[in-house]
Amino acid sequence: MRKQLYPTTLLWVIGIWALGTIPAASARTVIPGTAVSIIPRPRHMVVFAARWKMPARVGLIARTRTQQQVAAFLVRFLKGRGIDAHIQHAGAASIEFRAAKVADHLGNEGYRLRVTDGHAQLMAQSGAGYFYAIQTFEQLFNAGNRSDNSIHEVTIYDRPRYRWRGMLLDCSRHFFPPAVVKQFIRLAAHYKINIFHWHLTDDQGWRVQIPQYPLLTRIGAWRAGSEIHGKPNDIRHQRYGGYYTDAQIRQIVAYARRRYVTVVPEIDIPGHCTAALAAYPWLAAAKGPFHVRIRWGVSNVPLSPGPRTFHFLDTVFGDLTSLFPGRYIHLGGDEVSQRAMQVWDSDPTAASMMRQRHWTAARLHDYFPTKMAQFLASKDRRAVVWNDVPAENLPPSTIIECWNSSSIAAKDAKLGHDVIVANMGRLYFNFCQGDARYEPHAIKPVITLREVYHFNPSALLPPKLRPRLLGVEACLWSERIATARHLFYQALPRELALAEIAWTPLKRQNYRNFIRRTGGQYRWLEAEHYNFRIPPPSMRFTGPGAKAGLMRVPNKNLVTVRTAAHHGVVRIMEPVPATALYYTLDGSRPTVESHRYRGPVAVNFIPGKPAEIRSIAVTRSGRISAPSQLMVIGGKSR
Ligand code: ACM
Repeated sequence: MRKQLYPTTLLWVIGIWALGTIPAASARTVIPGTAVSIIPRPRHMVVFAARWKMPARVGLIARTRTQQQVAAFLVRFLKGRGIDAHIQHAGAASIEFRAAKVADHLGNEGYRLRVTDGHAQLMAQSGAGYFYAIQTFEQLFNAGNRSDNSIHEVTIYDRPRYRWRGMLLDCSRHFFPPAVVKQFIRLAAHYKINIFHWHLTDDQGWRVQIPQYPLLTRIGAWRAGSEIHGKPNDIRHQRYGGYYTDAQIRQIVAYARRRYVTVVPEIDIPGHCTAALAAYPWLAAAKGPFHVRIRWGVSNVPLSPGPRTFHFLDTVFGDLTSLFPGRYIHLGGDEVSQRAMQVWDSDPTAASMMRQRHWTAARLHDYFPTKMAQFLASKDRRAVVWNDVPAENLPPSTIIECWNSSSIAAKDAKLGHDVIVANMGRLYFNFCQGDARYEPHAIKPVITLREVYHFNPSALLPPKLRPRLLGVEACLWSERIATARHLFYQALPRELALAEIAWTPLKRQNYRNFIRRTGGQYRWLEAEHYNFRIPPPSMRFTGPGAKAGLMRVPNKNLVTVRTAAHHGVVRIMEPVPATALYYTLDGSRPTVESHRYRGPVAVNFIPGKPAEIRSIAVTRSGRISAPSQLMVIGGKSR
C-alpha cells in the first residue's frame, strides 16, 4: 500500500503532463473520478486509465476472523458475477485484506483501497472499514459492462464526515414485512449508512412483542381499516396490521450488524401511544376505550404518569435492551399536543403530580423521557429523543434528534447535548420529490434531489458547537406509503444524496459531479430490484433576449422563458447518464413514440402564442421519468 497519497489535483497535472510524453493509454494516466460511479464520493481518490480484468478464479487473503466474515460478502458478490472466488488464509492471492495501523488515520470506519497491477488491497482498522472498502470495490464494477468483469485501477483513502448516518423507517403507520426491512437495511449499508432508526410504535400500530404485555400485539398491532394506498379519507374497512416476533427482530438485528448497521428502536412516549392505550387503557391519562387509529393525526391522549405506567415502561424498555444490543434507544417524545397537555390537567395522577412538584404540563412532558433516559443510562445505553422534548432536564448523555426547527440543534448543543439533524424541510423522504401531478400519493411540499444534496447540517451550528453534531438522518414516515415499491421510490435517489452529505467532506461535494456518478448506481438498483424515481430531464432555451425572462416554477418540472425573437433552440439534458430522451412540441405528454432527442431542437413560434416543449427520460430497461415542461413565450419582450 502506498503510504503517501498524492492530492488528486497534483496527479491530474502529472497525468496531463504524462500524456505528452508517453502513450495516452499509459497505465499511470489519471482519468476523472466520474469514470467510476462511486457514491458516496470518497475523500481522496485517484482513478487510472488502466483496467484490471478479473481472472476467472480469484483468491482472497483474509487472516483474521473479522476479515474473513467481511470477505464472505465479497466472495458472494464475485460469484454472482461468475468469478470463482475463495477465501484463503495465507499465500499469494489477487485480493488481500490487511490490517491498518493507528498511524494510518482510518479511525473506526475508514479504509484504503488500492487496485493496481492485477492486485487489490483493502486496508482498515475495523470490520466496518473493511465492509466499506468492499462496498466501494463492488461499485467499481457498476460502471463496467456486466459480462466484462474489468475495473479501473484506483487508489482510495476514505473515511466518513459524520458518525451518525441514519435512515428512519416507520413500520407503525404501515407494516413492512421482515424481508422488506432487510432490503431497506441492505440498501442503506451499501451506501455506507450506519444507523437504521426503526419506528416501531405509534397511534396506528404496535409492532414489537413484549411477553409480559401480550395485548400490545394481540390488540395494538391491528386496526379496523386503512387509508387505501395511503390516500386520506379513502378508507378500506379491512383489518390491517402485523408485528415482528422476537425471532424476527433478532434476525433483523443480526442481519444489520453483519453489515455494520446499528438498529435504533423507537418506542414513542408519552404521546403517539394510542395503539398501546387500545391494548391497556389504564396506561392513559383519560378514560377509554381506545382504538388503534386508522387515520394519521396528532393523538390527544398521552400516558398517565402513575407507578403502573412506569412499571410498564421499565418492562418494555428493559425488553428492548435485550432485543437490541446497540448503544442507542429512541424514546420519541414528539408532538404532545396542547390538547393532550390539557388532558393531564384532568387526570388525577398527573394533576396531583404537577401540583405537588409545581410543574407545568410541559415539564411533565419531559418527565417521561427523562425518567426513561435515566433508566437506559443505568443499563449503559444512550437515549435519543425528538427535539420536542425540552432538553434542560434530560441527562446530558441524551441525544436530541432535531426535525422541526433549524435553530434548535445549536440551542441543545449549547446545553451540552449531542445532536442529530433530521430536518423536515430537507430530509423527510415521505414528501414529494417533484411535481405532485406525476408523483405517487405523498405528502407535500416537494423536496427535490438537489435540495437534499445541498443541505449542509453543519451550517446549523456555530463552529465551536460542531463537535456536538453526531450526524444526519432521513425519515420515511409511512402514513401514505403502503407498499415496498412505493417505499423505495420515495427513498431513491434521494438516499444517494443523503449518503453523500453524510459521508463525503463538504469540500468534495458537487452536485453535477454527483449526478454524473448516479448512472452506475441506477444500474445497480435496477439489478437489485429496488424501485426508484428517475429525475425528469432539464431543458434550456437559447434565443435572443431569452435569459432575462427565464423563470423556474417552484416544485413543478416547469420553466417558462420570454424572448423577443420568433425562434430559438432547445437543449434537453439527460437526468441520468445513458438515458434516452423523447420530446413533444405540441404540449402533449411525451412517450417513447414521440420524437427522440438527438441534439438541439430548433423552435419557431407565433408571436404571443406560447410554445410548449415537454420531455421525458427513459432508461435502458424502459423506465420512464416524469415529464419536464418548458414554456417559451416569444415574439414580444417584457
Ligand atoms: C416527527 O416527525 N413527528 C418527528
